[in-house]
Amino acid sequence: MRIQTVSTEPFEGQQPGTSGLRKKVKVFQQPHYLANFVQAVFDSIGDFAGQTLVVGGDGRFFNREAIQMILKMAAANGFGRVLVGQGGILSTPAASCVIRKNKAFGGLILSASHNPAGPDEDFGIKYNIGNGGPAPEGVTEAVFAHTRNIEFYNIVDCADLDLDHVGSFELAGMQVEVIDPVSDYAELMESLFDFTAIRALLASGFTMKFDAMHAVTGPYAKAILEGCLGAPAGTVMNGEPKEDFGGGHPDPNLTYAHDLVEIMYGDDAPDFGAASDGDGDRNMILGNHFFVTPSDSLAVLAANATRVPGYAGGIAGVARSMPTSAAVDRVAASLGLDCYETPTGWKFFGNLMDAGRVTLCGEESFGTGSGHVREKDGLWAVLFWLNILADRKEPVADILVDHWKQFGRNYYSRHDYEGVDAAAAAAVLKRVRDQFSTLPGTELAGRMVSLCDDFSYTDPVDGSVSRNQGVRVLFEDGSRMIFRLSGTGTSGATIRIYLESYEADAGRHGLDAQVALADMIEAAASVSQLQPLTGRDKPTVIT
Ligand code: G6P
Ligand code: ZN
Repeated sequence: MRIQTVSTEPFEGQQPGTSGLRKKVKVFQQPHYLANFVQAVFDSIGDFAGQTLVVGGDGRFFNREAIQMILKMAAANGFGRVLVGQGGILSTPAASCVIRKNKAFGGLILSASHNPAGPDEDFGIKYNIGNGGPAPEGVTEAVFAHTRNIEFYNIVDCADLDLDHVGSFELAGMQVEVIDPVSDYAELMESLFDFTAIRALLASGFTMKFDAMHAVTGPYAKAILEGCLGAPAGTVMNGEPKEDFGGGHPDPNLTYAHDLVEIMYGDDAPDFGAASDGDGDRNMILGNHFFVTPSDSLAVLAANATRVPGYAGGIAGVARSMPTSAAVDRVAASLGLDCYETPTGWKFFGNLMDAGRVTLCGEESFGTGSGHVREKDGLWAVLFWLNILADRKEPVADILVDHWKQFGRNYYSRHDYEGVDAAAAAAVLKRVRDQFSTLPGTELAGRMVSLCDDFSYTDPVDGSVSRNQGVRVLFEDGSRMIFRLSGTGTSGATIRIYLESYEADAGRHGLDAQVALADMIEAAASVSQLQPLTGRDKPTVIT
């Protein structure tokens, strides 16, 4: 077994996006491509000699090959110990949990989240720092800079390692520990939630379904929901993780989680339904014939947090990404909590949590989480909801109706246009920007425009500034229309239009969001000229 130094040349475009480096599997399969990136990470993160690295992924195609290479490179570069999930599996929140629990130097997570998997689909890798959260921009920029100058990488020359059995062995002076991917995480969940109350709820005739979408949460959900909490076998559907996620698109929304949606909107629908994504950090919450928007879900969790043991002492503050609706802002105002508005991307919450400024965070993109880890956490959100339901003993829909009565309703919807030509997408945003000085003071969708800008964020903890985080058209009554390009796609551009309108009158809380927002939707089309500029006349996905 010897350490090899392999000569290499830079690849174009190894710039980490919203959540690490995501490319087609075929791109990652090019000789040296992944190794270059991993070496660039190791060259950017400081002195880790003798320290611990956590490695795991969502089990998608190429996960195993990638992990073999990373372990051999970690040993060659001087890590003292690697903790790797059995079979190469760790959900993203579980990886965050393992990094924190073991005081690891950092972790490499292999995932392209909810993007489809398979030989012709997507793969991804990201580095998380010692707090368990995604590397901040300073680190990802350093990684990108290293990828552009790389000349060689270090790797141990040896046969593939057996990662399918829990246990430990040595690799060129580095300790490899193959760990059970579920147990640390399950223990953390049990420390936060009232498992006894949830067990009683599930034994009382309350019915639920959890859709793991053939992705990583299958084993976690089976162990926790069906194992610890006694939900009947079959509660977890699509629970066998597959390398191609069963050919599906494991994004828990109304479009892609159709198996679950059919059940929850069918005859004999269960009381509660939930789904998680490819790597287990996203969640969708449904009641019987009822969809909870992620923005509302965050607001409900904040308003009910003290019902849950882990948050019974109260929460420090809340944060949401800019495009997420302001529903949680209203809860924060009524509880006297600080509320932060950050750019899209979970990494922006890390500093706020580390500084103890916020406890709960959420994004419209089906992400919710708290300071228990530094990633959003799908199953955690499901357990939080179950704990609230066990305590309140009311249907999901009633909890929402009651919430809106108290705080008003922020009607909200996101319209995505996927796979748009990049130049056309840029033209749509430019078209809106070109009206920044003329729109304020005029009327759109029956409301007065108060301000237009490119959202910019100054991190209150470290003072770093992130510019151009979305084009905003803000209205005097608090309504908002936001245009943004996705930072997580791997082909073409995705335009996201986020629409929000506030309704205080409880008599008008029962509308379908698309109906309530119809005038905003029309105004967004006319302001952006999306149809003539892109040739698209309807969104690919509506959430
Ligand atoms: C990932 C990130 C989230 C982000 C989401 C959407 O899930 O972890 O923080 O909100 O992608 O990002 P996008 O740039 O595609 O809108
Ligand atoms: Zn994800």
